[in-house]
Amino acid sequence: MTAADIRRIFLEFYKERDHRFCKSAPLLPQGDPTLLFTSAGMVPFKSMWVTANPEYRRAVSVQKCLRATDLEDVGRTPRHCTFFEMLGHFSFGDYFKREAISWNWELFRNVYGIPEERMRVSVFNDDDEAFAIWRDEIGLPEDWIFRLGEEHNFWGPAGDTGPCGPSSEVYYDLGPSFECSNPNCGPGCDCDRWVEIGNFVFPQFDKQPDGSLAPLLNRGIDTGIGLERVVMVLQGQQTIFATDLFQPVIRRLEEFVQKPYAGHASSMNIVADHVRALTFAFAEGIMPSNEGRGYVLRRILRRAALQGHLMGLREPFLHRLAETVTEVMSPAYPELVEALPRVSMALKGEEERFTETLEAGLNRFERLAQTVRDSESKRLAGKDAFLLYDTYGFPLDLVREMAAEQGLEVDEEGFTRQMERQKEKSRSASTFQKSDGESLEWTEYSKGESSRFVGNESLEIETRVRRIAPVPDKPGEYWVVLEETPFYPESGGQVGDIGILFNDGLESEVLETQKRSGEILHRVKLSRGGWNDKPVRASVSASNRISTARNHTATHLLHAALREVLGTHVTQAGSLVSPARLRFDFTHYGPVEPEPLAAVEQWINDRILQAIPVNIHWSDYDAAIEAGVMALFGEKYEDRVRRVEIGEASRELCGGTHVRNTAEIGQCILLEEGTISAGIRRIEAVTGEQAFLVRREMQETMRHLRRSLQVPQNEIAPKVDQLFAEIAKLRKDVRNALEQRPSSNLEDLIKNAESIGGRKFVVGQTEAASVDLLRKQGDHIVKALGSGAGLLVARVGDKMPLLAFVTQDLVSEIDLRADELIRTAAAVSGGRGGGKPRMALGGVGDPEKLEETLETARNWLREKLRV
Ligand code: SER
Repeated sequence: MTAADIRRIFLEFYKERDHRFCKSAPLLPQGDPTLLFTSAGMVPFKSMWVTANPEYRRAVSVQKCLRATDLEDVGRTPRHCTFFEMLGHFSFGDYFKREAISWNWELFRNVYGIPEERMRVSVFNDDDEAFAIWRDEIGLPEDWIFRLGEEHNFWGPAGDTGPCGPSSEVYYDLGPSFECSNPNCGPGCDCDRWVEIGNFVFPQFDKQPDGSLAPLLNRGIDTGIGLERVVMVLQGQQTIFATDLFQPVIRRLEEFVQKPYAGHASSMNIVADHVRALTFAFAEGIMPSNEGRGYVLRRILRRAALQGHLMGLREPFLHRLAETVTEVMSPAYPELVEALPRVSMALKGEEERFTETLEAGLNRFERLAQTVRDSESKRLAGKDAFLLYDTYGFPLDLVREMAAEQGLEVDEEGFTRQMERQKEKSRSASTFQKSDGESLEWTEYSKGESSRFVGNESLEIETRVRRIAPVPDKPGEYWVVLEETPFYPESGGQVGDIGILFNDGLESEVLETQKRSGEILHRVKLSRGGWNDKPVRASVSASNRISTARNHTATHLLHAALREVLGTHVTQAGSLVSPARLRFDFTHYGPVEPEPLAAVEQWINDRILQAIPVNIHWSDYDAAIEAGVMALFGEKYEDRVRRVEIGEASRELCGGTHVRNTAEIGQCILLEEGTISAGIRRIEAVTGEQAFLVRREMQETMRHLRRSLQVPQNEIAPKVDQLFAEIAKLRKDVRNALEQRPSSNLEDLIKNAESIGGRKFVVGQTEAASVDLLRKQGDHIVKALGSGAGLLVARVGDKMPLLAFVTQDLVSEIDLRADELIRTAAAVSGGRGGGKPRMALGGVGDPEKLEETLETARNWLREKLRV
């Protein structure tokens, strides 16, 4: 049975039992920011167990999954992997334990034909109901049914919250030869003998954010059957890597490294698994980065690249294996075919960058490990692990594994400290001086609530100063905390507000606004008076704020437009919203060509013209996600979230300030599109007044061009092309003309050749545009003289090349040598030269000595020819 057969049979079996077939959801969890990846078949269905009237109550799927929790086990055991497929069937408030158990037993035993005596089952400690079903209805002997604890037989939730419950598992026995030394070795043992092939979860609880277990609205079934393991059992193998899911990849790898699998099994398993994970993730547009799920991919890729390196590969190879993965998997996942070119490109780029430092990093690691051993310690210092991470790009888990291979451990706390320190450093090195409350010296001016943000409602208010602290090393500048403030603090990529703060005893300018441990801090420069305890007026620069708001709303439109035009793999990877412009980083595999870029710009400007109201809603996080709102992974959201809706065009969770209606944006011009790292692109844009200024500048340029080119605007482009073509042609003509033109003084030189005892020579300056032409002139003289010698000099740019020549007869008869001549002549001015007896090249050093050079050459020739 092939893997494809096994998938198909599973789906048919449950479709016959009234299950709705659901296509595999993406690896990128939709609307669940607590999860890095879709890690189980049930993930896409999480809400079905808690929805009052689910649209359907039975589902079946083959779900692609990625789990990085067991990363370090991959390759070392016969059955761990990061990427896997899960055969799953689900009941949402429909059938329960009896059906799940008996159907799966039927599937395993009768349909797949797994021998009964090779299977054992487990149930949760006190789940007598499940125990009784296995014993009385299936008819298993009691000693085939094992009661196991939470670790094995309680599953979930996936992520931090949601459906979970006790489970029952089926184990396949590979036989006593795989038994370990544990006297209690049996189902659930960590060794290689017992392979879990099915997990039937009975979700009955809904885990709450506070950790408590509430009853689940639709208790039901969540069955997960690891495809790779079932394929292994049905293909009579003892490791998943021997199945038809992995073998083609491993064969190809053997070809690359020119070494057999035996002896390199662990390395090849790691690579084969990892390249599957990478191919699928990259195909969805999830790209390596330094954070979150991007960093998981980076770690996976680097582990695979390292294994390749250890097997002797020196060229990027993962992108070539991705081809094989695509061949094997695309019948089930056709989207891989279309994605392959960009998957390959991104894999290759990322692998190349890592391998640049890989060799050096390994050497450095060896030296560090040696030092540790020499000191008879067993611990690699945190700062050394950090050096490997920071300078050579070795993820901590990779360092940990490499160290473990040498019997060493890593001071991981030390590593974390270094990491924190570096983050701190880069924070304080960023554009403006920031301060954390602690190190400042605060003076209290009034008591009570502080830092209440009212800037969505008003831009100017009367309020009180709560506390101030001088900004270290900046005389006249203070951090100020207010009771209430209309100043928006920098956050979520939006820069903080600026403005003024004043009362009749003081005038000051607010230079920036920051958020620190829940407080809003204003950096203020005092221009008149001094701090007093009277109320102050806090006034935000409205023009600044509205410009920022325009750019923020435009950022949301840009995000939506990119997803619309390029595809939903586009996700925000960073953003900066300032009054002057907006900058948006996003995941995408290659440059955005001019045409789609224009479409994106058009899409945004259409929405601006439609004058769509921008609405703000507050709601529960879950309700927002359910409404299909875009939440950014990696952002931390409170329970109550703020949703910014631009009609049907965009919905995002966002705390920033926005315009009330898209028409206020005026217009949006995309300025530049470029790359910032593998798979991440950046677009800059301007709106409102800035867009107007940019447009005006363009018009100025156009006017200038129209005037100087003397054509209407629509003919500028062809005119420029035509001019360039003409210039190229003229350049060529000039070159030809120069080559062909007999230099007039060349003929003079020939005419005035000096003759010594019947042997002629020519020494003098000519006009030549290049050394090449100088050489041609030399040839010309030789031809004219028939027999003779000479030295020419020309001015080419700021250089004065010299050419010496002697005809063959003189070389043979009197050993007259052009190379000697050139050396003698060049030496006069501190220049150099050399070549062959018949022809030599050199250069004049000090141009002042030109005459002297020529005279020396003449005298030298006179003397030599007199022989
Ligand atoms: N959710 C369970 C698992 O992932 C069964 O589908 O193992």
